[in-house]
This record gives sequence, C-alpha cells and structure tokens, in this order.
Amino acid sequence: MPSIPSSDCALCPRLAAFRTENRAAFPDKFNAPVPSFGPADARLLIVGLAPGLRGANFSGRPFTGDYAGDLLYATLLKFGFAKGTYRAVKDDGLELTGTRITNAVRCVPPENKPTTAEMNTCRPFLKEEIESMPNLRVIVSLGLISHNAVLKSLGQKISAFPFGHGVQHDMGGELSLIDSYHCSRYNTNTGRLTTEMFEDVFQRVMQILTNAPASLRGA
Ligand code: URA
Repeated sequence: MPSIPSSDCALCPRLAAFRTENRAAFPDKFNAPVPSFGPADARLLIVGLAPGLRGANFSGRPFTGDYAGDLLYATLLKFGFAKGTYRAVKDDGLELTGTRITNAVRCVPPENKPTTAEMNTCRPFLKEEIESMPNLRVIVSLGLISHNAVLKSLGQKISAFPFGHGVQHDMGGELSLIDSYHCSRYNTNTGRLTTEMFEDVFQRVMQILTNAPASLRGA
C-alpha cells in the first residue's frame, strides 16, 4: 500500500493552517488529506489537481461533491469505469472498476491554488501511488498541473512532453499518459472543455486498454 498523508499532515504549513480554519468553520466535514479512491490493482489512474473546499474536502472522496465530479463520474459510469450511482456523497455506494482517482495535492488549497512548494512537497505521495499500482497502463492527467506532477513523479523531463488536450504520451514500459483539460466549472462554462471532448479522452483510454496484451487485461 502507498503511504498516505496523516489526517493532521503538517508538511505544508499553509495548507495545515487552512485545514485548522476549515475544521473550526465546518466541524462536521471531512477536512483532511483526501485519500485516493478505487482499487490499487486498477489499470487506469486519473490524477486531478487538489480537493475542492466544499467538494472533496467536505466529502473525503476525490471529486465527490465538486462541480467537476458531476462530469467526471458521469463519464466514468458511461464508459464502464464505474458502476452504481453517483450521488455526490462518499457513501453513495459508487464503485470504480479498474480505475483509481487521486490528486496531485491531497489537501484543499486556499482559492484552489497550491503553491509550487506544496506541489513538490506532496509529490512523493503521488509517486508512491503510481509505483504501487502493478497493473497500471494509462494515467489520465486532468490539467497541466497534474500533467507536470505525473511527469516529475515518473522521472520524465517536462519539456519532452508538452501538455495538450487528448494527447497521448508514451511513458515507456506499456504506460501511457493522456492529457485532458481539467473538468472544472470554469473550463466547462467557458467551452474550453465540452462533454464530447472529455468523453473522447475516455474512449481513447478504452481503446488502449482493449488493445492491451491479455496479461495486462486481467484475463
Ligand atoms: N476535486 C478533486 O478532488 N480534484 C480536483 O482536481 C478538483 C476537484
């Protein structure tokens, strides 16, 4: 199992102080580093940015209760990467199938903006997460920050793999990184990311996984 930050993780002083404020303001909410969701033997890992204040930080599950989660979970359900019903709460019984979701930064940052230092400090958790997934074949990065965090975790040069929506990067050893614009409210409201564009990314993931050798298909 990969290491996870403790519920009182103090590695990022600004994020720890924000957590203390949020615990006082919203005592009945989760308010802790948000753990990854989904099976560790998944072939697909989706990497977001960081928990939203009133979404994942309140619910304790990535993208759950976040505006971005509405599109993400609807898409995962549509393509069979999840089963059940998404009800925007942690105990909705939704199951991810062959898929895991994590964030580049595990704690909610003020104004949704982690600093470079915070991203660097949290990266070992992402690195361990990736290294602990024996069947991992595809990583979907939601947004540039996630893309850069994944590349650094894999020891790759950022300049060698420019971010582009829908672009598939070969990470070697049967592992692909696919970029998507983040499914945030801002990106969907401005039309930068449409449902169709987002679904195309997961269609591509399905194609890759379907063409995978039997040993990697869980057959
Ligand atoms: N919620 C998350 O968990 N991650 C994001 O990137 C956005 C919202």
